[in-house]
Amino acid sequence: MVAMTAAQNGRPPVSADIQDLEVDLFVQALQRCHGYDLSDYARASLKRRVIHLADQQGAASVSDLIPRLLHDPAFLPTAISGLSVPVSELFRDPQVFAALREQVFPLLASYPQINIWQAGCAFGEETYSLAILLEEAGLYDRCHIYATDISDAALTRAREGIFPVRDARAAAVRYLAAGGSRSLSDYYHARYELIKFDAALRRNVTFANHNLAGDGVFCEAHLIVCRNVLIYFNDALQNRTLGLFAASLVRGGFLCLGTKENISFAPAAGEFVGVDVPSRIFRLARPA
Ligand SMILES: C[S@@+](CC[C@H](N)C(=O)[O-])C[C@H]1O[C@@H](n2cnc3c(N)ncnc32)[C@H](O)[C@@H]1O
Repeated sequence: MVAMTAAQNGRPPVSADIQDLEVDLFVQALQRCHGYDLSDYARASLKRRVIHLADQQGAASVSDLIPRLLHDPAFLPTAISGLSVPVSELFRDPQVFAALREQVFPLLASYPQINIWQAGCAFGEETYSLAILLEEAGLYDRCHIYATDISDAALTRAREGIFPVRDARAAAVRYLAAGGSRSLSDYYHARYELIKFDAALRRNVTFANHNLAGDGVFCEAHLIVCRNVLIYFNDALQNRTLGLFAASLVRGGFLCLGTKENISFAPAAGEFVGVDVPSRIFRLARPA
């Protein structure tokens, strides 16, 4: 913890109150200098991540990060990638992918062009998983996947499509549980400790920076997949984001959230009906 580092440096440990103040000042500096407003992130986990960032950077306190934020442009991407949590896996929650494949893809098939917005794509794990299942459903050539994230560092990794080989075996099991009809290894080449997905899987993917906490409607989408991002937001930002999704979807468009996320308490809830509630798949039921 930073408090320990301060003590090791011969300074008195930083009290929780002071740490709170430092985190507030850090968040304000990020917003005023760079336009990233994280003030509506869930407080406890944001505080943990800011303190962890200070620790990682060898800073004696969170305050010591602020001058870097103000004066060192190269620090911004480091800060954003340190604060975001790009934790994901290929075919994470395979039952959700199975539900998308069985209950959503057949309905998407009626559109000549299908726009999919995958918000909070991390290193692209969900993007490649979706691309594979859409390919197998014969829909991929009609799809465009807009995979967005707040972290440029995560997007750079996502564009490469490279993942550790040690994760491939478990991913192959999840792929089959999701209803995959081939072998996952048909889609990548393994080299040393890494696997690299075939570039063809990215042919209809655009990776782009989009900040759900500040930016507006990204595209007109038939399906939005945004899993395990809202959990990092407070109620106000969750509501804003769900409103943004409602405004981005075509009538009858689908929304898929993380299995621990819900819309039932949000003002936008009335605009959606459940399609597969355990898998957190909803459909926009706004009247014409
Ligand atoms: C825990 S990961 C979830 C990844 C994937 N969707 C999944 O469920 O496995 C959360 C992702 O949301 C991104 N994120 C956090 N805040 C964001 C924001 N305001 N706008 C867009 N993406 C954000 C993070 O950079 C991170 O990649």
